[in-house]
Amino acid sequence: MNADRGTDSGYQIMVDPAAFAETAASFLARRLHAASERGVVSIAVSGGRTPGPVYEWLARSRLPRWERTNVYLADERVVPFDDPSSNYGMLRETLLEPAAVPAERRHPMPVDEGRSAEAVAREYAAELPERLDFLLLGLGDDGHTASLFPNHSALEETERRVVEVRVPAIPAHRLTITPPVIAAARLIVVLVRGEAKASAVRAALMGEHEARRCPGVLARRGVWLLDRQAAEELIGIGVLS
Ligand code: 6PG
Repeated sequence: MNADRGTDSGYQIMVDPAAFAETAASFLARRLHAASERGVVSIAVSGGRTPGPVYEWLARSRLPRWERTNVYLADERVVPFDDPSSNYGMLRETLLEPAAVPAERRHPMPVDEGRSAEAVAREYAAELPERLDFLLLGLGDDGHTASLFPNHSALEETERRVVEVRVPAIPAHRLTITPPVIAAARLIVVLVRGEAKASAVRAALMGEHEARRCPGVLARRGVWLLDRQAAEELIGIGVLS
């Protein structure tokens, strides 16, 4: 790490690409540990390829107190949990099982129980805490975050906290948290790797686009953990040194 600005909001940390997962996990483990000193904490996590190795490292850390940590999903694909594209399936394999997170602390979006995705979204909105202590997000190369994609009507939501969406990605049928949930989160952590993300990172952090064009803007006040490739377009303008 070489650019920690020392506050809890709106800063970027450059992470050594070779140690990305371990470094990100250690950052999260320390924050979870500190927060759980004060009682039960909540975290909602994302899917995608970046976080799996981070969850694996997190599962090896002794710091998080999982008996005091409710683990939610920020978004989910409407597929069975044993489908390789299931976010919960990935989370279960990489974190929940290896870390022995107690069953009552696991909060999947139950898309595999045969109920309509719309009903699952409504119920999950009620299950999510008013304010998440931690929200772990990623960023797509088109600027999407959670399953909020550019120009999607879900970005206009001000009431519903979880919605069913059809998105221009595979799988297309998903559930996602909405902007009010992101806005209410106490600490947002965004994990981004790779040069394909560099211009989306710049747009999310520095651009003049609104969230409608670049949903990553919703996470601008978060702590962004970036590898050098993902941060490439920030380095040139002196955001990271
Ligand atoms: C999902 C995610 C999504 C993800 C980004 C980045 O379930 O698809 O929540 O928002 O974080 O697409 O994904 P990668 O880590 O694979 O680049």
